[in-house]
Amino acid sequence: MEKNSSFTAAIHHRRSVRVYDENKEIDAEIVKNCIQLATLAPNSSNMQLYEFHHITSSAILDKLSVGCLGQSTATTAKQLVVVVVRKDLWKQRAKANIDHLNKLFGAKSKSEYTPREKFAMNYYKKLIPFVYSEFLGIFGYLKYFISWLKGIFKPSYRQLRNSDMRIVAHKSAGLAAQTFMLCMASEGYDTCPIEGSDSLRIKKNIEFAVRK
Ligand SMILES: Cc1cc2nc3c(=O)[nH]c(=O)nc-3n(C[C@H](O)[C@H](O)[C@H](O)COP(=O)(O)O)c2cc1C
Repeated sequence: MEKNSSFTAAIHHRRSVRVYDENKEIDAEIVKNCIQLATLAPNSSNMQLYEFHHITSSAILDKLSVGCLGQSTATTAKQLVVVVVRKDLWKQRAKANIDHLNKLFGAKSKSEYTPREKFAMNYYKKLIPFVYSEFLGIFGYLKYFISWLKGIFKPSYRQLRNSDMRIVAHKSAGLAAQTFMLCMASEGYDTCPIEGSDSLRIKKNIEFAVRK
């Protein structure tokens, strides 16, 4: 692949902007396209445990600005994109991967799978349910302890507690968010990530916007 100077330019362009030009309009289709491209970001086990909510309604924008503690970056933004981590969707996303593999491998019986195909299927049918299953945080600690014991004898994956799995999901959402912001920068649009917010109010407003 050739060196891409426009990518370097986008990295330089992306700075967190706190006050937006009120005379500059944002094309919602370009934002949508950047969200689509963001879904191509690397993510843990291709589970894509996140959602992007693109907000353009001024009524919801006003509510979200309050939820962003009145920060000028939110109050002056013409559109907002809320990234929601959805670890709870793991069963649905594992199934989507299995469906995708079934399509890819074509109609054949299990015995006809190549070792690689069998590995891929078992990954989503057995390993992912093991890693993501949880019961009041207790199962996570049990898995963590088992991997700790196993780890005495051989290298083992250890991040299996509920809190570990939350980090796993947040890392992937963060990478997708960064990809989105770089795409926006490449389109000449400014962005600013916001964590200084009242997450409960943001959640309620997003749920309200989705229901509408
Ligand atoms: C996870 C995260 C949360 C952030 N939250 C806020 C925020 O609530 N308000 C804000 O003005 N900037 C926020 N920022 C922007 C950082 O302050 C900014 O990225 C940093 O100062 C570096 O500047 P730059 O993005 O222009 O390179 C956040 C950045 C990250 C990565």
